[in-house]
Amino acid sequence: MRRLFPSARPDVSAAQPAGGPAETADGGEWSLEELADAYAYPELPRTDAAGGTDAASGSWLRANMVGSLDGAAYHGGHSKPLSSPADMRIFGVLRGLADVVIVGAETVRHEGYRPARRREGFAARRASAGQGPAPAIAVVSGSLDLDFALPLFTEPWVPTLVLTGSAAPEDRLAEAREAGAEVLVAGDGALVDPARAVEVLARRGLRRQLTEGGPRLLGQFAAAGVLDEFCLAVAPRVALGSAARVMDAPEVETPAEFVLESLLEEEGFLFTRYRRAGHQAPEGGAPLRGSVHESAE
Ligand SMILES: NC(=O)c1ccc[n+]([C@@H]2O[C@H](COP(=O)([O-])OP(=O)(O)OC[C@H]3O[C@@H](n4cnc5c(N)ncnc54)[C@H](OP(=O)(O)O)[C@@H]3O)[C@@H](O)[C@H]2O)c1
Repeated sequence: MRRLFPSARPDVSAAQPAGGPAETADGGEWSLEELADAYAYPELPRTDAAGGTDAASGSWLRANMVGSLDGAAYHGGHSKPLSSPADMRIFGVLRGLADVVIVGAETVRHEGYRPARRREGFAARRASAGQGPAPAIAVVSGSLDLDFALPLFTEPWVPTLVLTGSAAPEDRLAEAREAGAEVLVAGDGALVDPARAVEVLARRGLRRQLTEGGPRLLGQFAAAGVLDEFCLAVAPRVALGSAARVMDAPEVETPAEFVLESLLEEEGFLFTRYRRAGHQAPEGGAPLRGSVHESAE
């Protein structure tokens, strides 16, 4: 893994780019700790200026997606053909840093989602950050047409959350709760309001948020202006076909600006990390740090 941006300047040998190790000549595999530092969430304030709880501004929504050179978000209905070992390591690290992983129901149905794992290598870092052993998975669904017999609902480390609208079908709600899921209403009607979803999760203390898409859900977060950070892996592959782009939503009036924070490379994959322009990390963006003791998978 090589860091291409920000680059370490050879004349400032002691300097280390914020959030991660300086570039080495050959790259080499980064440890789990190095990757976790490189992707640390900003420090989030617990209170607003008046000393009250300000859940909405005290959260950070990051997205992680992989796309092909020609912009496809999947091939044959799955993202795996676009992925790589480094992409999967970063995928695991981003999960290890998050309080909650937000995912669209179609991705759960397509990718056979399982509960997030409790990873020993993240135990100390999570404990020092006041986090539970594994992130909760929050599934966004209006229809609740989900298989509640899956381990995602019946065997998680922390109860899986279902984000839905107030008009969700009663029988499906009952089935979700019976399976052990916690239902959170974040919309008046059939649909979830993306900004409200962020706030509802933050008010439960799930403030380091990670969405893994899919493209339709991510498009809504971006359109609502609540996406703080976008980690896009560019796969050196051409998929063609009619797959959606990594964000799939109606065109906005003016394209939103994002600022490049870092760029890593391994085996031709580019791991970009962008922050929404004009949106500073709360409290100056000091990263949350702890320690990890395991190599990245
Ligand atoms: N390249 C990548 O990194 C990546 C990442 C994730 C997924 N994928 C791929 O993307 C594909 C699936 O993505 P997708 O865009 O079709 O679907 P998606 O965003 O994963 O899920 C869409 C579904 O989520 C629910 N949903 C979304 N917005 C909602 C809202 N505002 N209110 C209520 N429910 C809402 C709806 O579920 P209901 O129908 O249940 O109401 C909707 O049908 C799969 O092929 C997957 O492999 C790729």
